[in-house]
Amino acid sequence: MSDSSKPPFRSRQWFGREGKQGFYYRSWLKGLGLPHDMFDGRPVIGICNTLSELTPCNSSLRELAEHVKRGVYEAGGFPLEFPVMSLGETQIRPTAMLFRNLTSMDVEESIRANPIDGVVLLMGCDKTTPSLMMGAASVDLPTIGVSAGPSLSGNWRGKPLGSGTGVIGMSEMVRAGTLSQDEFTEAESCMQRSKGSCMTMGTASTMASMVESLGMSLPENAAIPAVDARRFRLAHLSGRRIVEMVREDLRMSKVLTRAAFANAIRTNAAIGGSTNAVIHLLAIAGRLGVPLSLQDWDEIGSRLPCLINLMPSGQYLMEDFYYAGGLPAVLREISRHLELDALTVNGRTPARTSPMRRAGTRT
Ligand code: FES
Repeated sequence: MSDSSKPPFRSRQWFGREGKQGFYYRSWLKGLGLPHDMFDGRPVIGICNTLSELTPCNSSLRELAEHVKRGVYEAGGFPLEFPVMSLGETQIRPTAMLFRNLTSMDVEESIRANPIDGVVLLMGCDKTTPSLMMGAASVDLPTIGVSAGPSLSGNWRGKPLGSGTGVIGMSEMVRAGTLSQDEFTEAESCMQRSKGSCMTMGTASTMASMVESLGMSLPENAAIPAVDARRFRLAHLSGRRIVEMVREDLRMSKVLTRAAFANAIRTNAAIGGSTNAVIHLLAIAGRLGVPLSLQDWDEIGSRLPCLINLMPSGQYLMEDFYYAGGLPAVLREISRHLELDALTVNGRTPARTSPMRRAGTRT
């Protein structure tokens, strides 16, 4: 229920209306089987879903959305899921990057045009994260991110096989005659062993780490494997939390300050993240009018060493990273370099969220 001392939620402009127009807005949604009291002024939570079988990395998002809805209902909200264009890195031609800004417009206008008070962004594959973050930032409602999470570690004949990294190495071996075509084909079924995004520290895992280090997700978002039950708990808790965020009016612009971007830049250095983070974070900052330049990446991030040993440059995979503590462990390690008064979607600062496994956000 809305607090009578505060202005009514945005969705009241639709569902709070009398007469013919209010009838339209409510009646068609009642066709989903919704009772009348769903329109009583409770926060309406849009679940922005990039689920698509053409984006296999995001194929777990149908199930994840159901867990978000449980949390939203539990906290007294009204969830409404909607699809947006999904950018699958491996299938789309000529390149997913060509459509990043187009998708961000889809996201922005889908949120702005509809009776939505708060948003949960379900994302995963490389460009799905920046496009959703950019579009949502332009509308600036209370927003929380939930990533699909990395797939289980690839494994071929007892050896780790990293998404992309393994393909490139093995294709060279085929060219050199040290690996047969049959072995190469066998490995094709051993790399993506489950639903989820690439399990190296490529762009998808980097951007999920950026979402977490920006304070835009609950802790542990970056590394919980896509099919681990703890990922579904994270979605459930995010559903609960977004309802509270609407009641607190904790908008994206309150979280995504220059301090948050500085924290993300330092985190990117510490995880050896993808260089694609540079273009995406600049674009997200631009949507909110936060000053951020290429030079900031040098000045803010260049003195931090890479602390993790993950493919493509290192040895291990995201599943190993999660068992070793995931991003919260990295943030603790670099905490003296972080701006600890930056607000996160928890409503807490990184200083108060670290160590991050706390009641209420524990997955
Ligand atoms: Fe989708 Fe790598 S191709 S996450």
